Amino acid sequence: MSFPLNWRVLSLSLLLVGSTAFAADGAPKTAAAVHSATLQPRPGHAAIASANFIATNAGLEVLAKGGNAFDAAIAVASTLSVVEPESSGIGGGFMAVLHRAKDGHDIFIDARETAPAAVDRKDYVNPDGSPNRDTALKGPLSAGIPGEPAGLVLIAKRYGRLSLQQSLAPAIRIARDGFKPDARLRGAIAGEQKDLQRWPASVAKYLPDGKPPAEGAIWRDPDQARAWELIAAHGDDGFYRGETAQKLIAAVHAAGGNWTLADLANYRAKERTPIVLNYRGYRVVTAPPPSSGGVAIAEILNILSGFDLSKMDQAHRVHTIVEAMRRAFRDHNDYLGDPDFVKMPLDMLLSPYYADGLRQSILPDKATPSSMLPRAEANEPGMHTTHFSIIDADGNMAAVTSTVNYTMGSTFVAEGTGVLLNDEMDDFALVPNKPNVYGLLGSTANAPEPGKRMLSSMSPSIVIGADRTAVIGSPGGSTIITQVLEGILHFIDGESAQQITAHKRFHHQYMPDEVMVEDGTFDAATSDALTRMGYTLKQRESWGFMNVVTWDRKTNKLDAASDPRRPSGLGKVQ
Ligand code: DON
Repeated sequence: MSFPLNWRVLSLSLLLVGSTAFAADGAPKTAAAVHSATLQPRPGHAAIASANFIATNAGLEVLAKGGNAFDAAIAVASTLSVVEPESSGIGGGFMAVLHRAKDGHDIFIDARETAPAAVDRKDYVNPDGSPNRDTALKGPLSAGIPGEPAGLVLIAKRYGRLSLQQSLAPAIRIARDGFKPDARLRGAIAGEQKDLQRWPASVAKYLPDGKPPAEGAIWRDPDQARAWELIAAHGDDGFYRGETAQKLIAAVHAAGGNWTLADLANYRAKERTPIVLNYRGYRVVTAPPPSSGGVAIAEILNILSGFDLSKMDQAHRVHTIVEAMRRAFRDHNDYLGDPDFVKMPLDMLLSPYYADGLRQSILPDKATPSSMLPRAEANEPGMHTTHFSIIDADGNMAAVTSTVNYTMGSTFVAEGTGVLLNDEMDDFALVPNKPNVYGLLGSTANAPEPGKRMLSSMSPSIVIGADRTAVIGSPGGSTIITQVLEGILHFIDGESAQQITAHKRFHHQYMPDEVMVEDGTFDAATSDALTRMGYTLKQRESWGFMNVVTWDRKTNKLDAASDPRRPSGLGKVQ
């Protein structure tokens, strides 16, 4: 079989002809409609959806004190660090898309972790040359310099209405007074018990009396309360300098890690310009690099915009979406990394003309094996998870995806700080073309370097239509991208927040060349039709926990939904 079309050459030549026509910012002109008489300019009430009811309530508490969506985001993120430490926290990082109502300003906050200056690729390879999965995923060598504290301080300073003390107050109180860990946290501790036992401070924190906290027991985290108090009092300096910084470095060194005080002092959260695109009249605002999520979502939506999915049977609809996913993930592997280190052809990847070429390479009734899609020539030198959603009464919006990477991060707690470190170093391509924990491959663009941010799939997004808006995101490693994409498609098809979070899902990421499917997504006829087209279908158990808020400007109804796959989540309208 031969590949039907040299679409890369075609798309590049089209790109040269139309290079000014595809700026990333292709927003539809809906602003006038938003302010028209029939559509509400502000909701007048608020909604939050997060993965844990204590965190949702912390956000609502801060709104009730006069805070805006951004103050509430600080409260939700810091409280999740206390009550859902298996997913995100003070020792991890986050990415957020914010929308400021008063001037329509869209902002991306990059609080992604960075590699320490002493990063050494040899630490992630065994003597026989095979990848060392232990140093990549457990203990201090697996941890990047945390970004969450700096990111929250930045949001408070530039976008909040309340002081950091006020926004962090619920987290500090809950850490100090205690709470009852839910079944998921108790299960995560039990699941990671063997690794947690390797580090004395992790045992002290998560395995009191040598076992996970019992059901119904009150669990306190005074060290973490103190760490947040220092941040509330001193901002960045409360974490990246002084008492906490010194304790972090001492603990990391004692356990064989290589961080320095300078790594902490040099960490900066960054504001970046989000990726903005227009899909079927909706303005989609999503994550730019160092996330691959927004680029991939834009690429997929640009490809899909040339098809009428509503006229297809389910098998052909899935076929078309999967082929778009496959192509976007190929580019993810080859091109993307930290924009401060890697030159990426974003104009090309985001261009509708590039998407035209990719679309033409999709066969009507047949899967394209990933091995037949040419790899990009991007490897030359020089080329180069919990999510919550908030809308406040004024229409400010926050989509925040926050992570320590794998369950319980590195499993390493730095003695005396209450800080559970992330294991985000595994999101780098530590060993070229060897899969990370999510099966993702990477190239030199995502190779570890001192101070560099590791590529992420986190895809917090805001979708603004003429009369309906959604704030959306999900955890799920590489499946974040496709789950958010499917959520956006379902929203645009008119589904409610509840329907979007409940919808069955599927995923393709170029390699492995298989369609991962949630049980019940396809009926037997669709599965057979997809198999005949050449797809390998593989059931996957674990799907991300989406938290979605929608706003209908005609009825002025807010809707907040937390993924039914996780009972502890809470979507609440105030
Ligand atoms: O940034 C990323 O892409 C990953 N560290 C996210 C990890 C994740 O979603 C884990 N949850 N299932």
